[in-house]
Amino acid sequence: WEVKAPYIYRINQLKKEKNILILAHNYMTPDIFHCISDIKGDSLGLAREAAKTDADTILVCGVYFMAETTKVLSPDKRVLISDPTAGCSLADSITGADVKKLRQEHPGVPIVTYVNTTAETKAEVDICCTSGNALKIIESIDSDEILFVPDRFLCRNMQTQTDKKLIEWSKGSCEVHELFTVESINEFRAAHDGLVVIAHPECPREIVEASDFSGSTADMINFVEDRRPKKVLMVTECSMSDNLTGMYPDVEFVRPCNLCPHMKKITLENVLETMETMSPEVFVAPEVIDGAKRSVERMLEVK
Ligand code: 13P
Ligand code: SF4
Repeated sequence: WEVKAPYIYRINQLKKEKNILILAHNYMTPDIFHCISDIKGDSLGLAREAAKTDADTILVCGVYFMAETTKVLSPDKRVLISDPTAGCSLADSITGADVKKLRQEHPGVPIVTYVNTTAETKAEVDICCTSGNALKIIESIDSDEILFVPDRFLCRNMQTQTDKKLIEWSKGSCEVHELFTVESINEFRAAHDGLVVIAHPECPREIVEASDFSGSTADMINFVEDRRPKKVLMVTECSMSDNLTGMYPDVEFVRPCNLCPHMKKITLENVLETMETMSPEVFVAPEVIDGAKRSVERMLEVK
């Protein structure tokens, strides 16, 4: 912390001097999450905030598709991300051209895309969703059959909760959540009496089945806030437990967890450099913005 304090101080100074709003995803490290962010949240919460801020510049502490979504919703603002190579295995698994092909193969079937996609992919679909509203979005669509891309595990987890037929995209999965195993959950349950297991719905179906609750990162935080389990295993990215440990000293956060190498590219050091130089800036082609904005705004309109 001695090393980090000057960075935190200077970043907070620059936020005021340059009217920069910092959005931080729940997977950011505690220094970013607790000490410099203005808004923290899951993908849905961050998208909502991005749509209503009046700051001149938004700095996104998250992965590139999140920064793109912010730009799509606020095209007139300057949007910055301190490492534009912070990708996502889900966003990389499908392209706009893939979606066009899917439309030809399934004529008339609406296409829902998870928000973990590029703006170019979002521009080709009918509506977006996040893990926080996926079921609501599915149920809002007037069709018994829906193409749900690209996360095949989220698709399978949602399929258990809807009568509509969801068609999955076989190539999409989160490289972080697919690593968890039922065996390790069982071992942790055996080692920790009364352990409560909560899993993100990007996990494979059998992991969610072996858990006591599943929801978006914000839903998982709300679960801990409301239920205050004595011991909890958060089956998701490691920073979630790191961020909550100090907030809930009465709760024991049992590991394992997995790190997202993309989220971890965002550091205090590169955030400060970005604020000093006001770069790298996120650009999305105007024709892509129009299509992607339609898909994201449709999602935000579903109550
Ligand atoms: P949520 O925060 O929307 O649950 O998403 C998790 C995630 O993996 C983001 O990349
Ligand atoms: Fe993508 Fe998974 Fe990392 Fe989220 S945790 S950014 S879904 S690779």
